[in-house]
Amino acid sequence: MLIGILNRKGGCGKSTTAVHLAYWLSRQKQRVILVDSDGQMSSSQWLDKLKMPSVVINDPDDLFDQIGKLAEEYDSVVVDSPSVLGEPAKSVLLSVDLAIVPVQPSNLDLLSAKDIVRLVNQAQKIRGGTPKAAMFLSRASRGTVLLREAREALSQTQGFTLLESMVYQRQAIADAPGQAATVFSMSGEAASSAAKDYDALFKEAMRYGKTK
Ligand SMILES: Nc1ncnc2c1ncn2[C@@H]1O[C@H](COP(=O)(O)OP(=O)(O)OP(=O)(O)O)[C@@H](O)[C@H]1O
Ligand SMILES: [Mg+2]
Repeated sequence: MLIGILNRKGGCGKSTTAVHLAYWLSRQKQRVILVDSDGQMSSSQWLDKLKMPSVVINDPDDLFDQIGKLAEEYDSVVVDSPSVLGEPAKSVLLSVDLAIVPVQPSNLDLLSAKDIVRLVNQAQKIRGGTPKAAMFLSRASRGTVLLREAREALSQTQGFTLLESMVYQRQAIADAPGQAATVFSMSGEAASSAAKDYDALFKEAMRYGKTK
């Protein structure tokens, strides 16, 4: 499957999600490569530390050509996108089967999600419904009113499903790149709770991505 992680909002967890998803898929015995289309190169540097394959591609035409080519060699391609919704993001949306959009439960983040929704809807119009698109609440705090409101606001988004699974704000997740690890391979209770969040999220997202 070709999967793009996108959102205009900086710091919502795109790169963290992309790296954890690539690692999770590799543990499912899939051949996986991460395409880093962000000049910051956070996810490709992190993947280097994990000794997993990644490639940095910024040019929109190269992205379009290369994502398709990589799909012949790998079972899964995970694309991490920058916070700018320009031509590279469009190339990603014209290439992937599934777009995953992390959204932080804050009013400003909910507002800015409109931009990625619009872009995804345009790609879906051109491609007859593809890519499938899923949002999830990222860096969430448990039991807040804002969380409930965010779920309500996002659940009606055209062309998207809102995943039940959420990823909470957890120190273990923030610590992972510094430890050259993912929460799946870190020890301790906090890491294992975070790993459970991601495991549930990715299972749900992949199940959705495979539906007809
Ligand atoms: N669930 C989480 N709990 C705690 N910290 C998190 C979580 N998800 C991400 N972070 C931290 O938040 C910061 C931003 O995350 P990340 O780099 O993944 O976001 P991004 O959307 O890729 O940002 P950018 O738009 O700059 O590319 C990082 O320091 C990361 O470690
Ligand atoms: Mg990033």
